[in-house]
Amino acid sequence: MKVLVTGRIPDEVRAQLAAEHQVVVNPLDRPMARDEILRRLADTEGLLCMISDAVDGELLDHAPRLKAIANHGVGYDNIDLVAATARGIPVSNTPGVLTDATADITLGLILAVARRIVEGDRRNRQGRFRHWAPLLFLGTEVTAKTLGIVGLGRIGRAVVKRARGFEMKVVYHSRTRLGAREEAALGVSHRSLEALLAEADFVSLHLPLTPATRHLIGAAELRRMKASAFLINTSRGPVVEEAALVAALEAGVIRGAGLDVYENEPRMAPGLAELDNAVLLPHVGSATWETRSRMARLAARNLLAALAGSPPPDCVNPEVFAVG
Ligand code: 8YV
Repeated sequence: MKVLVTGRIPDEVRAQLAAEHQVVVNPLDRPMARDEILRRLADTEGLLCMISDAVDGELLDHAPRLKAIANHGVGYDNIDLVAATARGIPVSNTPGVLTDATADITLGLILAVARRIVEGDRRNRQGRFRHWAPLLFLGTEVTAKTLGIVGLGRIGRAVVKRARGFEMKVVYHSRTRLGAREEAALGVSHRSLEALLAEADFVSLHLPLTPATRHLIGAAELRRMKASAFLINTSRGPVVEEAALVAALEAGVIRGAGLDVYENEPRMAPGLAELDNAVLLPHVGSATWETRSRMARLAARNLLAALAGSPPPDCVNPEVFAVG
């Protein structure tokens, strides 16, 4: 069968796919053009796509032979799941393998923005480290502060584990509340979103993007936060109303933000890049050699299973395999 891989993957994973199928891999370090994807999908059975590819009804209409979609990423808001399911196409993602890398970068953003690490580096390179003084370039302490986790899935929990090392108090808000025993084991307490926003020194978002979470954090929510608090987002950009965040950072409604994701990637809202109280990463939560290689391997494993007619291990629409 024919397989299209829209982003660069390790050679060893490509070889694994090529052992069974005829594979085309985007050789470039940028997304494959949509019209090229549409053209190639005309006679392709397997698609290994990236989160930058919009896999929508129009694209699927160009793919009459498509039998499987494997997303290279845990979040799959780039895929119209209803449209894929309606066509009987199994869709898979890559859960678990990027949990630690994303949790690590969350702590990195917390430390970077609170302790002004990037700003300090910038100043130093500009030759502006002229003298030391006791009240110069102060940041915010992280140890023993309150961390508010919104969305307590795999990544949220991995952040909790790391926050423990910083002696942080952790409160959380999620759709489904944990049982009392599990809360005690994790050392977390549940809050309404409103209460969490008012209490936390760091609010960290770990939610999938869905219609219910789009713009969950807007001007009103930012106003509920403490003026000394920070917002951290390593989930999906549209969970935050970015223009409202820029306004809040400019006006000192909150003290700072650490972002890995943006509402209209790769663009950023006007004004954001000019702010010293924002640390801005280019969507690199899972970007380690180890994790990206695990993601590619897992996506390939899912694709190979689906092309062989079995449910892929990480199928997100298992109903396509329901009998009858
Ligand atoms: C990657 C991600 O940047 O897994 C996700 O949902 O956002 C990140 O791990 C992306 O998936 C690469 O395609």
